[in-house]
Amino acid sequence: MDTLCLPAAEDSLRRGAELLKTGQVVAFPTETVYGLGADALNEAAVRAIFAAKERPADNPLIVHVWSRDQLEGLCLVTDTARKLMDAYWPGPLTMLLLKTDRVPAVTTAGLPSVAVRCPDHPVAQALLKECALPIAAPSANRSGRPSPTSAAHVWQDMKGRIPLILDGGECRVGVESTVVDLTGEIPTVLRPGAVTPRMIADVAGKCAVAPSVMRPLLEGETAPSPGMRHRHYAPKAPMTVYIGPDERVATVLREQYDATENAVLLARESLLPLLGQRRAFSLGNTPAEGARLLFQRLREMDALGAGRIYAQGWEPEGDALAVMNRMARAAAFDIVHV
Ligand code: TXA
Ligand code: MG
Repeated sequence: MDTLCLPAAEDSLRRGAELLKTGQVVAFPTETVYGLGADALNEAAVRAIFAAKERPADNPLIVHVWSRDQLEGLCLVTDTARKLMDAYWPGPLTMLLLKTDRVPAVTTAGLPSVAVRCPDHPVAQALLKECALPIAAPSANRSGRPSPTSAAHVWQDMKGRIPLILDGGECRVGVESTVVDLTGEIPTVLRPGAVTPRMIADVAGKCAVAPSVMRPLLEGETAPSPGMRHRHYAPKAPMTVYIGPDERVATVLREQYDATENAVLLARESLLPLLGQRRAFSLGNTPAEGARLLFQRLREMDALGAGRIYAQGWEPEGDALAVMNRMARAAAFDIVHV
């Protein structure tokens, strides 16, 4: 299949909407990462997403809408959900709600709940409006690769597999949306993102965080979110993350660095001057900058043929929880406090 990559504009958006209406798959930007969209209510279209991504069929998709009226008849919108929508939609917050029979089982991988989100990106909004369909969209990477934060990343993973990529530039947030389960008594974050547990608790009164957010699943433990079961965000090279005072992390990174194993360092901008002439990438200075840059850096280090990655992390709390959840998985939980 020929893949077109077009700048998002009136005519390319119309073309994208037409493709979606005929059951095809289109990649488009959101504020978090690029998505791989298709009609959420069309089984064959949803299957085409799984095929293009090589995604295991037991991993459910998020349904994207541009207005909450579109949720009518698809899921049970609770009072808490309504409050959270008032506060954070459009935005990087995905909610799990009980689904109706109109949402096919392929979309939710047979689960009784459906994940819904309203993205805060003009291109995503325009596309959703133009096709007037609820759009199922996972991140537009091939399964097991870092999520794409630019059209070039989508091209690397999806060339020849889908008809159209809409290019809307680089994603502002850089890690995927927060996934919060609203089907139980207490809202529970299954995947941290830019909307923090604190921000959810501020609106919903309470918010729990699933223990698997910052540790591997235990033997025999069921994943609250199927996505957590699968290997994620792993660069080709083994990666170790160090957390501690700048001086100490800089010392460890300098000591660990071994050019003969083709090592690469990944650290905060402010640490780079302390690392000397070693090959090092910047994660910016704040957790938000780290989140925006992380997936791009993982792809760059892969492209460079890095043999070993030593990285500086943040304490996994507050607004650093999202970026650290991804770093922990990229490092297969090899995290060292120094
Ligand atoms: O920011 C994002 O959320 C991006 C953009 C494109 O919107 N999408 C995204 O989709 O990250 P995906 O498919 O890569 O991740 C969705 C996550 C997976 O971990 C999946 O297991 C979980 O949400 N999920 C979806 N529906 C679920 C459900 N009904 N119950 C539990 N987990 C669910
Ligand atoms: Mg994904």
